[in-house]
Amino acid sequence: MASTQQPQNLRRHIGGRQARPFWGAIVCGCGVLCSPMFAEVKVADFGTTTDGIAVKQYTLTNSHGVVVKLIARGATLAEWHVPDQHGNMDDVVFGFDDVAGYESKDNGYFGATAGRVANRIAGGKFKIDGQEYTLAKNDGPNTLHGGLQRSLDKVVWEGQSFEKNGEQGVAFKYVSPDGEEGFPGKLTCRVTYTLTDKNEVRIDYNAATDKATPINLTNHAYFNLSGAGSPTILDHELMLAADHYTPIDETLIPTGQIAPVAGTPFDFREFHKIGARVDQLTDQPGKGYDHNFVLNSQTGKLALAAKVRDPKSGRVLSVYTTEPGVQLYVGNFLTGAKGKGGKTYNHRSGLCLETQHYPDSINQPKFPSVILRPGKTYQHTCVYQIATE
Ligand code: BGC
Repeated sequence: MASTQQPQNLRRHIGGRQARPFWGAIVCGCGVLCSPMFAEVKVADFGTTTDGIAVKQYTLTNSHGVVVKLIARGATLAEWHVPDQHGNMDDVVFGFDDVAGYESKDNGYFGATAGRVANRIAGGKFKIDGQEYTLAKNDGPNTLHGGLQRSLDKVVWEGQSFEKNGEQGVAFKYVSPDGEEGFPGKLTCRVTYTLTDKNEVRIDYNAATDKATPINLTNHAYFNLSGAGSPTILDHELMLAADHYTPIDETLIPTGQIAPVAGTPFDFREFHKIGARVDQLTDQPGKGYDHNFVLNSQTGKLALAAKVRDPKSGRVLSVYTTEPGVQLYVGNFLTGAKGKGGKTYNHRSGLCLETQHYPDSINQPKFPSVILRPGKTYQHTCVYQIATE
């Protein structure tokens, strides 16, 4: 199409708002604007929650044909279709085909935004400025991933799609009222996903509160680089930019120690197959890797945290973060949930690299603080990039 005219139907009504089209201005030899690159985030109805709330689905596409789908329940990364070394596309993250799947007990936080405090809080209790707060215990004696009913993975966020500098994204917002799930303060959270032309999913987190409160947001995507539903991730090779990790007790709460990885199965300073030493870890429920690694970069600047290589597909996942830690979880508790397209998510067939502060930081004075105070802004960036080699 060679045209200088904008098509009549460009302004489409999306999710109750007007979507602004993106025009890539291509000026050809004849000096006119040719082949305008119209890129628009597709917005569709994904279904309705049991509470009757409509859930939108957003489809992002980049110039390499990489497709990412997000859903507003849990501000969730639901699909990521990327080429392998031969150019074949696979969806490499876990998810479900409908809202009922996400609401089911089979959903182990697949792709969701976890919070207000991702990971564990010992005994479901903490104190801030002398005041004690009690939370619902949803993981044995502890609180996991923000609580029982209205943790951030379970609520429906408001989404606003955008196109910026040729890249597509969605900005999600959720305001958690004072006291929700037992946490103090009205917390305004923003999670913005951008699909870049470098095949990155960039996640920018931002939050503000009106009372001192703990916060630790992360994304809980499960990856299998051979395609979600492939039988194992034990053949994936992992490198972590971490000389230390935080040992845990029998309920997966850190002991408070910051231990060197050298000479242990936690030493991923060079690539190792995940399966090579996983069975040496037998001390905690689920066994296998479910540990926080203390990243070498503690500057708050974006730095490489992890790389995962899948020899079968040639896909390589790189993880960058501004956070001080990353939780490596290798799907020890997966028991065969039926996911997208009827695929089965078996034991250790998906792995999570959750960039975050350390577990139970609110009760561990030696760990970097997770307390957000009024007037301050919580910020965290995580970049997942998938390339081939
Ligand atoms: C935790 C696991 C937990 C899983 C829930 C991970 O972040 O570390 O222990 O079972 O989330 O899906």
